[in-house]
Amino acid sequence: MARNVLRSQQFSREFVEGWLFPKADNIRSMMACEQGRSVLRKKLEGKILLSLFFEPSSRTRFSFEIAAIRLGMTTVATENAEVFSSFAKGESLEDGLEVISGYRPDVIVMRHHETGAVEKAARASCMPVINAGDGKGQHPTQALLDLYTIKAELGGIDGLTVVLGGDLAHGRTVRSLAYLLSRFRDIRLIFVSPPSLAMRQDIKDHLTEKGVSFWETQNLKAGLEAADVVYWTRTQTERMSEDESRPSKSPFSIGLRQMTWMKPKAILMHPLPRKEELRPECDADPRAAYFRQAENGLYIRAALLIWVLGENQDSSQLYLDFSGK
Ligand code: NCD
Repeated sequence: MARNVLRSQQFSREFVEGWLFPKADNIRSMMACEQGRSVLRKKLEGKILLSLFFEPSSRTRFSFEIAAIRLGMTTVATENAEVFSSFAKGESLEDGLEVISGYRPDVIVMRHHETGAVEKAARASCMPVINAGDGKGQHPTQALLDLYTIKAELGGIDGLTVVLGGDLAHGRTVRSLAYLLSRFRDIRLIFVSPPSLAMRQDIKDHLTEKGVSFWETQNLKAGLEAADVVYWTRTQTERMSEDESRPSKSPFSIGLRQMTWMKPKAILMHPLPRKEELRPECDADPRAAYFRQAENGLYIRAALLIWVLGENQDSSQLYLDFSGK
């Protein structure tokens, strides 16, 4: 059965802490020296990664492709898949994936603007598919690197108070991260957003079911004062429907003044790209973790490629089986 990466809730705490994070740590140190890099180059030698992006991407695509090359893989890509591939001629996702997967790339990394499109593609594919973001749905590899960053920066995840803020209605990273955080103990989530950009009900229902305490507020100061982790996001105007009102700029913006409200040991994260909601003046503060977070994407995505392509076959007890089929 193909090992797809489709939703963050497919991964158990045991898998992320017991296998994925140590693997990423190991890859990080190997990538730092020539000897390690030459061992890594043999890891997935001769395998092919195909990236199929229907939406813009910098971090996700480059970190996947560079991770693949560091592991000895070859990459084949089309960006703007809707314009530069047969999808432009109106080919259905199902037909496209049936054909593309039939050429046997070892893994397909796919991003699409429609929620659920990557799962649909995975059902039509005979090779593993990794969700690199599907519309307002999920971004599981981002959530895994976010969680890895929290663990690396703060030493642990249990007991943390995490602010998820900005555009919680259209952002997929916060949704995937909320699912993963719900696997840990004594997590408190604070959603900071204007009502029009509030977290959707399905996530709140999930948290209630898992017994995770959360509250919603528009009081930025109260949220930042309570947080161990502040996870900020941009307003995703491109995902808003015609009838939704578009705020001309982010209603909450974090700058130096707002950072004085944060605890001395708290961290500030952002999946990037940022706009006016996170001002560059914050970058020099050691609590600003977003560039370290982006770098972690390389190690986590390399570890995920190794897992998808077959290592740790005995991990079935660590992995909550969800093939998307
Ligand atoms: C995010 C995405 O694409 O969902 N970016 C990313 O992958 N690092 C967030 C965003 O676009 O705002």
